[in-house]
Amino acid sequence: MQKQVDIEKALERKYPEQVVLVTTRNKQGKDNVMAVGWVAMASSEPVMFVLGIDQQACTYQNIIETKQFVVAFPSEKMAKETLFAGSVHGYNRDKIRESGLRVQQASIVNAPVLVDAVANFECELVEITMPGDCPLIVGKVVCAWENTDKQLKRLYTTGKNHKLSGVREIET
Ligand SMILES: Cc1cc2nc3c(=O)[nH]c(=O)nc-3n(C[C@H](O)[C@H](O)[C@H](O)COP(=O)(O)O)c2cc1C
Repeated sequence: MQKQVDIEKALERKYPEQVVLVTTRNKQGKDNVMAVGWVAMASSEPVMFVLGIDQQACTYQNIIETKQFVVAFPSEKMAKETLFAGSVHGYNRDKIRESGLRVQQASIVNAPVLVDAVANFECELVEITMPGDCPLIVGKVVCAWENTDKQLKRLYTTGKNHKLSGVREIET
């Protein structure tokens, strides 16, 4: 049975929601990382992602500047680092160093790949659209990486206020 409620109230039922880490490198060579929950596939051939990224974010400014970024799927072991990446702006902080996230050189784009993520996708900016109050950034995947540990599980947002954890199958 369905009961009509406020939109905000119904949105509380959307979890678990996927979360990714977006890395960028500005023109001065400074790396940054941000948590993004508003993410989806936007195309399969070629593969594209769409990300909702606030204009205030340092990541947004970096993407405008360089037109490149990496979408990394954090593992369930990266909850602390993901929360940190999503809690402070990177303008005057070195979030990658402070969080201890391990990085390696990407192949094509100028932004770091996260060593301990489940997978990484190097992206080039295709377009930015503004259908509502949040810029939607579409990026084409130009190179992909996967973790050699096949057992690693992805991290999800599992509740309000950015509650993060791995997602387990429901036990019967
Ligand atoms: C789990 C989680 C998901 C988030 N999802 C988004 C999102 O989809 N879009 C967004 O603009 N900010 C999102 N944020 C907030 C940003 O990550 C936060 O504003 C961050 O400080 C921006 O970093 P930057 O300024 O260094 O780029 C999220 C935060 C968390 C913890």
